[in-house]
Amino acid sequence: MKAIVCNNFGPIKNIEYKDVNEHKIEENSVIIDVQSVGVNFPDGLLVQGKYQLKPETPFIPGMEVAGVIIEIGSNISKFKIGDRVAALTQLNGYAEKVVVKESSVFNIPLKMSFDHSCALLCAYGTSHYALKQRGKLQKDELLVVLGASGSTGIAAIQIGKIMGARVIAVASTSEKQRIAEENGADISIGYDNLKEELKTISNGKGVDVIFDPVGGDIFDTVARTMARNGRLLVIGFASGTIPKLAVNLALVKEFSVVGVFWGAFTRSDTEEYKKNMIELFEWYQNDLLKPLTEESYPLSDAAMVLEKVLSRGAKGKIILKP
Ligand SMILES: NC(=O)c1ccc[n+]([C@@H]2O[C@H](COP(=O)([O-])OP(=O)(O)OC[C@H]3O[C@@H](n4cnc5c(N)ncnc54)[C@H](OP(=O)(O)O)[C@@H]3O)[C@@H](O)[C@H]2O)c1
Repeated sequence: MKAIVCNNFGPIKNIEYKDVNEHKIEENSVIIDVQSVGVNFPDGLLVQGKYQLKPETPFIPGMEVAGVIIEIGSNISKFKIGDRVAALTQLNGYAEKVVVKESSVFNIPLKMSFDHSCALLCAYGTSHYALKQRGKLQKDELLVVLGASGSTGIAAIQIGKIMGARVIAVASTSEKQRIAEENGADISIGYDNLKEELKTISNGKGVDVIFDPVGGDIFDTVARTMARNGRLLVIGFASGTIPKLAVNLALVKEFSVVGVFWGAFTRSDTEEYKKNMIELFEWYQNDLLKPLTEESYPLSDAAMVLEKVLSRGAKGKIILKP
């Protein structure tokens, strides 16, 4: 089968589209004929050796896929050949076929496209967990989403609206701000004068919840805009810089900095995680949310796509097609 292989950690352009041996079925696993692969920011870090996970090389990157089951292991009763499914794979997703443990596979409704089901995994899964369990977002609170036109950002806007918040999107260009508004943001603004803008928008009260997948200098700026009892959610560092917090700000303003690690949640709190996924699927079926998956490329273009994602080029979730 064809797959994208990282032979050695290094520049993204070194990843290779090539023939590889297919993995063998295991008793508690299924084989998926992959129709859509979700591209995630960490995939680009992973192949460069810049991510917390460092698999042995060579390896196939890719943590979320959707497709059709073509083979089932001897212990499988929950799935059958022909089922439409989405799955979290951690690795091996950038391929025509993938072997996945049953516990990581979800049946997807007929009306849900393969592309949308990929987006609902890492991006919506993360933003949902962040706002619900970690941020405890309440109706009528003020939510600010940074990196708002990106994959987790769009998800955070849509989920924030479903949870009843007033959502302010922050994005770097007017086109990205327009996309954020089309996806439900009440207002979208740029990074310039952000502290003053948020002070005005919140009538001086400050922001209740901030969703920050960007990090860097902007983290320090938004830390100065928090409301009393606010929650500053640490999602990621797309800017490439892990910020430091002047903790006197947390003392004086009485806000909390809350870490979010969805991967750890899926592994250590499996029941709660499954309930979250069911809720997301229900919202999708009730047309309350709609992933933005307008861009898709052949799997062979993975290197170009990863470069694009890591250089601020993503709008919503990008999909690769094997
Ligand atoms: N904690 C978790 O469990 C978890 C789960 C998933 C993802 N993440 C992390 O969250 C971060 C964002 O993921 P994502 O899927 O939303 O990525 P994405 O789709 O690429 O969006 C990231 C956004 O960050 C902004 N950004 C600012 N400076 C940037 C820079 N120098 N390079 C690239 N983007 C920059 C961009 O928006 P503007 O141009 O508007 O600034 C971009 O749209 C990543 O660090 C990822 O590893 C964490």
